[in-house]
Amino acid sequence: MMKTLMILAHPRLEKSVANKRIADEIKNKIDDVEVRDIFSLYPDYKIDVEAEQQALINADTIIFQYPFWWYNMPAILKAWFDEVFDFNFAYGPEGNKLKGKNFQLSFTVGGPAEAYTPTGYNHFRIEELTKPMEQTAYMAQMNFLKPIYEHGMVYVPNVYNTQEAVEARADQQLERIISVIDGFKNETPEVQITAFVKDWFAHFDQLAEDGYFTHSLDKDAQLVFPEGEFIGHQGFSEWYSAIKKEIKPDNQHIIESISITPNNEYFNVDLAVKLKAEKYSGEALQLNVKEKWKVEITKEGNVKIHTYKVKAV
Ligand SMILES: Cc1cc2nc3c(=O)[nH]c(=O)nc-3n(C[C@H](O)[C@H](O)[C@H](O)COP(=O)(O)O)c2cc1C
Repeated sequence: MMKTLMILAHPRLEKSVANKRIADEIKNKIDDVEVRDIFSLYPDYKIDVEAEQQALINADTIIFQYPFWWYNMPAILKAWFDEVFDFNFAYGPEGNKLKGKNFQLSFTVGGPAEAYTPTGYNHFRIEELTKPMEQTAYMAQMNFLKPIYEHGMVYVPNVYNTQEAVEARADQQLERIISVIDGFKNETPEVQITAFVKDWFAHFDQLAEDGYFTHSLDKDAQLVFPEGEFIGHQGFSEWYSAIKKEIKPDNQHIIESISITPNNEYFNVDLAVKLKAEKYSGEALQLNVKEKWKVEITKEGNVKIHTYKVKAV
């Protein structure tokens, strides 16, 4: 199952109409969503970086929900990025923890659409004003989705708008968020397994920690490598610790072909992969392998590997 995390950043939530409604309602509309109201968690701006990073690791899609303030995000969210998108977490040599996750901005804009044009009083288009966030997502190797926002979201009693009109636009904004999330849910097994395979080898490129791999291996998985046969999580770690002693991280697994065929309640995955690596001995390694996997898509919607066979060719 796809896990969604909403980072809600609104320092005056008690006065909010639009963001409050979206954050309250999303829990009734999609399964498996966590809403973290970061201003109420950290009113002193002292962010628990570890807790926030763990919440990110657990999620597939992260929605940043906030009011557009001074053409940007409220300061609490900027502080959150500055602390949480840390070196060797979001970027840097080991900074691949967010790789492949979806990055969705969802904000509410007070001003009207026509103001955000070259001849309007705000001069710039919204998409120009969100460029730093877009690049932040790219730097973290995340999947930047088209920002979702609605205009005319300010409600000032007897001055601007009615509460009902703002709420209706907030509901529209929420519907747009839901349709993005539902789009992920409706992926075919083939699309889902292909994405999984890419992510799996991207983690091998970095020689990621064992937990990433064992998380997707059945506890009794049958593992057949050129180095021998192994069983389950412990078997994987045995094999992997020897590999990590031999080859350096930042290697390259190139997926040359992939074919996925249903096999009763499982799927067979046939792969041709080229590995380019450097050994600690200084020797360059280039290896072509054929892999045969048997995988399942669990009822939670995750890919789980039951059989994993690798043969050098
Ligand atoms: C400090 C502050 C700065 C704001 N800056 C902008 C702005 O730059 N552009 C804009 O269109 N609206 C701006 N607004 C209006 C907010 O975008 C609007 O109040 C908000 O989206 C409404 O959402 P809420 O009901 O959840 O508070 C600003 C409002 C505040 C309080």
